[in-house]
Amino acid sequence: MSAQETYENVEKSLQERGQSHLLAFWEQLDADRRLDLLAQIQRLDLTKIDQWMADLVKKPTFTPNCANFTPATSYSPDPAGPEQQGKYAKAIELGRELISTGKVAAFVVAGGQGIRLGFDGPKGNFHISPVRNRTLFQIFADSIAAVSRKYRTVCPWYVMTSRLNYDRTVEIFRSNDYYGLDEKNVFFFQQGTLPNLDPDGRILLADKNTIACSPDGHGGSLKALHQSGAIEDMKNRGVEFLSYFQVDNALINIFDPLFIGLHVLDNAEMSSKAVIKTRPKEKVGNFCLIDGKVNVIEYSDLPDELAERRNSDQSLVFQFGSIAIHIINRTFVERLNAGDFALPLHRAVKKIHHIDDQGNSVESDGIKLESFVFDALPLASNSVILQTRRSEEFAPTKNRTGVDSVETTRQMITNRAADWLEWAGVTVPRKSDGSVDCLLEIAPSFALEKEDIREKLSQIPEIKLGDSIYLA
Ligand code: UD1
Repeated sequence: MSAQETYENVEKSLQERGQSHLLAFWEQLDADRRLDLLAQIQRLDLTKIDQWMADLVKKPTFTPNCANFTPATSYSPDPAGPEQQGKYAKAIELGRELISTGKVAAFVVAGGQGIRLGFDGPKGNFHISPVRNRTLFQIFADSIAAVSRKYRTVCPWYVMTSRLNYDRTVEIFRSNDYYGLDEKNVFFFQQGTLPNLDPDGRILLADKNTIACSPDGHGGSLKALHQSGAIEDMKNRGVEFLSYFQVDNALINIFDPLFIGLHVLDNAEMSSKAVIKTRPKEKVGNFCLIDGKVNVIEYSDLPDELAERRNSDQSLVFQFGSIAIHIINRTFVERLNAGDFALPLHRAVKKIHHIDDQGNSVESDGIKLESFVFDALPLASNSVILQTRRSEEFAPTKNRTGVDSVETTRQMITNRAADWLEWAGVTVPRKSDGSVDCLLEIAPSFALEKEDIREKLSQIPEIKLGDSIYLA
């Protein structure tokens, strides 16, 4: 097909869909920029855009069919009764075996823009630890290195970025010598993008020959894992399970034998960890069952009446909050990609930089589209939920101050270290209200879990009021 014919086809299909403004500046573009713009338009699935218009632009609010919701059940942090104790012991043993035979890889989604944190650059490069001020990436890398040493294995790390922060992320790893990991075992890849729309559903232009796009949400990871060759790489290495986590969780326990073991014993394809919510509308996803399948309904989509509903003992009916930690089978991702799978899209109204009809740079409210990884849960043949303790595994760094902030994360790192030390018999200074009166940080190389501390008691100094102690 000649260039002119391609142009005419594209122009026709844009006209049919009310999107011909994308070619408004055609006459001002040189040949290269014209080709570039045509290629971008051809990559858009214009029939899907019609569907998004109908579902997400014209019908602005998502209203889940709550009549179907029932609360999800979960494994509790501690086994109840001898039968479950036996199962947990078996799961831990199996999980350890799978880790030590290199079947489990770490997978962080790090494509977000960290806007709430007000941090310029990949969020993983944010300095967070209370004593040594180490970054999130460094904490994760230390933990991966410590697990690899403990189990005498190689734990590969898959790092998903967006197009916007890919180069910077790779550069940060390079300039930090991959935080001591072998660069061969760190696999970076980029998620896809989706076009930004104006409130009438018109696709926005970032400049005269570029469509305004945003990262396609962490749900895009399931396609990107496949398209980037990450799945192929896993296959070559014999990796079967991905331990999925978010870049903002400083307390993540990446390789948890119990979680991995329960997931495998129950023949699950995608599983999750949960905590008991602190309040009905806590800003976390809510686990529920729809037609017997595990689903996560985002806090913003859960009607107040359901969020507030209580059992007779006053616990919340929908009490399990998602902490965005999953085990995902490699074969599940393969299965999804072998078929024509598409996760639902969610819309967010955000300020978007674009050009107006005259070509002037402007910023206005527009629609960003994203898919969420937890929408794959109902597609899994089976899915388990393991409830865990917030103080042990969940310290999300979303904001500078207040709830889920830099402050709370630093405090939680200290608090968990204090709990572990006290459990092992070490005295930690506390104020009269029970709060810890010093700063503590335990490197994963020192202890991956509280049990590791018992063997290292001789290396722990006396901890005095106001001390800053780093155990490595
Ligand atoms: C998220 C979850 C919420 C969960 C909470 C736990 C959603 C919609 N909600 O909330 O259910 O309870 O975390 O902390 O995710 N990311 C990408 N690419 C993208 C967008 C995000 O990789 O296109 C990554 C981010 O880097 C981050 C993670 O996904 O690691 C979460 O993104 P964020 O937008 O911060 O989610 P939250 O709304 O905080």
